[in-house]
This record gives sequence, structure tokens and C-alpha cells, in this order.
Amino acid sequence: MKFNPIRGTHDLFGEELQKFNLIQSEVNSLAKKFNFDEIQTPIFEKTELFQKPLGEQSDVVLKEMYTFSDRNDDLITLRPEYTTPMIRAAISNNLLVKLPCKFFGIGPMFRRERPQKGRYRQFNQINFENLGCNDSFADVELILIANNLLNNLIQKKDFKLHINSLGNKKTLQFYKKELIHYFNKHKHSLSKESIEKIKTNPLRILDSKNKIDQAIVSKAPSIYDFFTNEDSKIYEEVKKLLNNFDIKYVEDSSLVRGLDYYCNTVFEFKTQSLGSQNTLIGGGRYDGLVKVLGGNDIPGVGWAAGIERISMLMKLKKNINNVIHFAIQNENFKTHALKAYKYLTESNFSVYWNYKFNLKKSLSKSNESNARYIIIVGEEEYKLKKYTLKNLQDGNQSILNFSELLNKIKNG
Ligand code: HAM
Repeated sequence: MKFNPIRGTHDLFGEELQKFNLIQSEVNSLAKKFNFDEIQTPIFEKTELFQKPLGEQSDVVLKEMYTFSDRNDDLITLRPEYTTPMIRAAISNNLLVKLPCKFFGIGPMFRRERPQKGRYRQFNQINFENLGCNDSFADVELILIANNLLNNLIQKKDFKLHINSLGNKKTLQFYKKELIHYFNKHKHSLSKESIEKIKTNPLRILDSKNKIDQAIVSKAPSIYDFFTNEDSKIYEEVKKLLNNFDIKYVEDSSLVRGLDYYCNTVFEFKTQSLGSQNTLIGGGRYDGLVKVLGGNDIPGVGWAAGIERISMLMKLKKNINNVIHFAIQNENFKTHALKAYKYLTESNFSVYWNYKFNLKKSLSKSNESNARYIIIVGEEEYKLKKYTLKNLQDGNQSILNFSELLNKIKNG
């Protein structure tokens, strides 16, 4: 019987894994630069941790969570996102003492969505969260980190920052009521999906992709008309700070995000190069969430990036690798060549032994792999008890004894 990965999951190897590791090391250096501490949480949590905070009517909770009963009938869910588990971990371990606390994490998430390009059932996220800070610079600092991450990994033309503000929780509550009223008046023209959302999640009608819905949405009341002075002040401050950092953005009033916990600043880095799964990074402010999860009433802001989506836009540079290859003319010279192999590995060099005794094939394989050096052992080298070291990048080669070989490799 042949087994394949389960639909919507994928194995990581080769170039894909190289990209994954590159992303991970970029994330680690950014976290260091901006002083975020890593948190790793378990893959599964109590279902309740996600249900209310993400929104009982959100797509994630309604349709996408991998939930099962444990043997003692506890309801368990594979984490569909990282913000709630991270906050849970911060509370469980009493980490929220000196505020603000800045955390980051990388790991697999699980959502039972319909698989397509850029959308998986197990995918990897990077998360950055700032807990306990009201200052709008916390929002912009996070956007700056996200912008840095994308700038360092993919081309500028492949992403654009969209921002919006949802006002504070009360503003948003009031606005939702107005939207329900407005959409009920236009119920007869809305798509079936949007009609279903009127009562449960009217904000999501605003980002409907349906053309007829969009015409109705274009005349819907705007959240900006419901802003308090403080809401406007916060949004203006965010935009001013983004300008200070020369971060370009588009204001997008249809940007509402899919999870329920947001207020005030929301943002997404979008791409036009991936088809419909076009959000690379999404996040925003979630004041009140820590309290809902049993902590103190402190504010929070953060984002998550999809590693697979970023990876699809990355181009790997062909790096010269510093592995030392071997090419041996025939088996009789094996012991002589192995002396160099032993010596080099003991001196901490990385080596690649070619098991085939064929100079031509070995050389072309080493050239393909973009290695810097190859050690060639043939009749002459065997007789002289020396080795030919060829620099595959510039073509120079010379016959050397052990110490000359080592010197040459060390000093380039
Ligand atoms: P989200 O928008 O649900 O936000 O997901 C964030 C990112 O994860 C998306 O922009 C996308 O790149 C990636 N992603 C989501 N679902 C999939 C999937 N099925 N396959 C591949 N990639 C996917 C959150 O998860 C929030 N917790 C973000 C946040 C952090 N807000 C505040 N802090």
C-alpha cells in the first residue's frame, strides 16, 4: 500500500525546506533586533480557548477547527492560530509582569479549509505580539517588523500594506448594529452567503468578493462616520508614524479581518502574485482579548505571517557551498583519497564523497552542486602521495601535499 500526505498537508524538503529555514533565521534575527522573546506552545489546547475569542460565528470556529474528544471526553482543538495560545501561555506562566511583553513564535497551525494554491490544512505561521501597550507606536513597530521581514525575503513589487481602523469595541458594536439594519433593507439583492452573515457577522459582508454584494457594500454606512474623537486620533497617529518610517500603505475601508477580537488598527500585507490566497501577513490590535482569556485588562497588538505564502514568492540565490568534493579515478586510489577525507573531517570541513570511480561524472556532479573545491585523486597524485585541488569557481588547480592542501582550503 502506498501512503501520501493527507489532503491539504505537505512534506518539506529540498528548496522548500531551505526557504523555510531561511525565513526562520530571518525571523530570529528580527526578533533579536526588536527585542521579542520566543514562546512555543503545545499544538493542541482546550477548544474553549478558541471558541469565544475568535468569534463563535467566525469561519474558523464554525467550519475549520480540528476538534476532537479526548479519551476523558475533554474537547481538544489543534491550534488554528497562535495569538490565543501565546496569551494563554503568558498568563499560565505568569509572564505578564513587566509590561509591555513582546513575544514571537513560529509553528504549524491547522484549519480544515478547502485546499488550494497558498491554502493548506496544516500550514506554518510566524507570530509577533506586543502585550500591554496602548501606544500607537506599538502597532507601527509591529508593521515595521513585518515590512522588514518581507523586504528581506521577497521583492518589493510583490507586496503592499493595507490598513484600516475598526474604532474601539463600543464603536464597532454600534457600527455592526447599523450594518445589520442597512443590509436587512437590501436583503433581497445580497448573495446567499452574505444574507447568512447579516445577523452573525455583518462586517464580513464588507469584504465580499461578489460583484452585486460589492455594489450594495459601496453604499453601506462607513465606520469612519461612527468614530469617536479618540478613534480618529489613534488612526491619524498610526498613519503619521507610518509616514515617519516611509512605509507606504493604502487605506482600505473593506479590510475587516476574519477573527472577532480586533479593534482600532487592522492591517494586511497583500500580494497580487498568488491568486486568491493573497494575504501574506495579517494582524491588528486586540484590546480586551487578554481579559477574555482570564488575564488582566491589558491591551495587545500583533500579526501573523503565512510561511508557505511567503516562501512561494521567494527566489533562492545560488550560493557557492563550501563542501569539499572528491573525484577518484579508480578504486585502487580509494585508500589514498580516504586519508584526505579523514583528515578534512577531523579538521571540521564539510565533505562529499562520490562513490562512483569516474572522474568525468564526479566532476560534472560537483559542478552542478555549485561546490567550491574538488579533490582529484588519479595515477599521478597516487604516485606522488599528493592531491589535486581544483577550485571549481575559477578553474585553478594545483598538486599539493596535506599541509599545502589544508592551507589552500583555509585561505581560499
Ligand atoms: P489570519 O489572517 O487568520 O490571522 O492568518 C494570518 C496569516 O496566516 C494569513 O495572512 C496567511 O498568510 C496565513 N494563513 C492563514 N490560513 C492559512 C492556510 N489555510 N494556509 C496557508 N496559510 C494560511 C491570524 O491567524 C491572527 N492570529 C493574526 C494575528 C496575530 N492577529 C494579531 N496577532
